[in-house]
Amino acid sequence: MSMLEFAIELGTTNTAIYQKGSGIVLLEPTLIASSNDTKKTVVKAVGQLAKKMQGKTASNINIVSPVKDGIVEDFNLAKLLLFRFMKKVITKTLVKPKIKLLFVVPCGLSVKEKTQYKDLGYYVGASRVEFVENVLAGLVGCSFNTNLPSGVISLNLGGGSFSVASVSLNSIIAGYTISMGGQKMDEAILQYVLDAYELEISLQTAEKIKREIGSLYIHDTSNLEVSGIDLNTKSPRQDVVFSSNIRRAVEYYFEKVVGAIEDVLNSSSPDIIADISNNGIYVTGGLANITGLENYLKKRLRLPVFILDKPEEAVIIGAGKLLSDKKTLNAMIKN
Ligand SMILES: Nc1ncnc2c1ncn2[C@@H]1O[C@H](COP(=O)(O)OP(=O)(O)OP(=O)(O)O)[C@@H](O)[C@H]1O
Ligand SMILES: [Mg+2]
Repeated sequence: MSMLEFAIELGTTNTAIYQKGSGIVLLEPTLIASSNDTKKTVVKAVGQLAKKMQGKTASNINIVSPVKDGIVEDFNLAKLLLFRFMKKVITKTLVKPKIKLLFVVPCGLSVKEKTQYKDLGYYVGASRVEFVENVLAGLVGCSFNTNLPSGVISLNLGGGSFSVASVSLNSIIAGYTISMGGQKMDEAILQYVLDAYELEISLQTAEKIKREIGSLYIHDTSNLEVSGIDLNTKSPRQDVVFSSNIRRAVEYYFEKVVGAIEDVLNSSSPDIIADISNNGIYVTGGLANITGLENYLKKRLRLPVFILDKPEEAVIIGAGKLLSDKKTLNAMIKN
């Protein structure tokens, strides 16, 4: 019987699937559009297609992410969503293949949550389900050698959560997951534009502002023209939003990240801290793309900082590499 092995990152904002031997085979928004007209949930669309439908459907269609703050919240919808995604990546064969799944999860999952993830894996056809923490997979994705007894910081900045951990010899020494991420920043930008410009914008526009002119450089002069609804006249209006203003809305969240890293450092031994001052911080996740982050973290923490070109892919690439490196994976699972 043929065997297919996949790594899956079911993130708050994006889902990534890596197939052993093929690489990343799916990277789509974690969104499911469904209706409850009858007693049964009817899936209308998933992923990219569901995202295109956002804000443009009748009220009986719900478009949601079943993942909240980095953890699956609605396992029922998650099952339906992942089933559709797996159907996209598994080509039909006469003989049913055996499937192994490696789920990327945040640090500190409870036993109950692990059981629920396992059920989710079995539902989509897996015969074996394993787990790896995002902070560990992220380091592998950044080509950091986790097999050495040498401390390093791994930081993941996602859409729904921030995770930070000190890691040595394939295990997490101290780690935190904070329930805030890129989506909370979008909400803060939306609120800021509403208060300062008296302009009502959509969350999608707020995210666009963050991606295009979001910056941690104090003197960044970039700006962006955005469309919205004037709060007073209720008619459409355009306005120019400046990077320096947006920084005020997002900096609070990066302050929290710095605080979490400081907490991890404070709970580490002098030997680990000495390693970390050489090895530094590896940053992964979509939000690591924000302009000026490397400089900001270097300045605030006085540590080396490494960010890959496509930080949003680092975790899934790392988990994918682990499918072919059983020794490291087993060491991570055991710890
Ligand atoms: N160029 C960019 N600048 C700023 N933010 C970005 C950029 N590209 C992506 N992001 C943000 O990254 C976040 C998504 O990152 P990622 O795909 O790593 O999250 P996730 O894995 O779905 O979430 P989580 O791990 O928290 O469950 C979104 O908030 C998105 O707006
Ligand atoms: Mg993630």
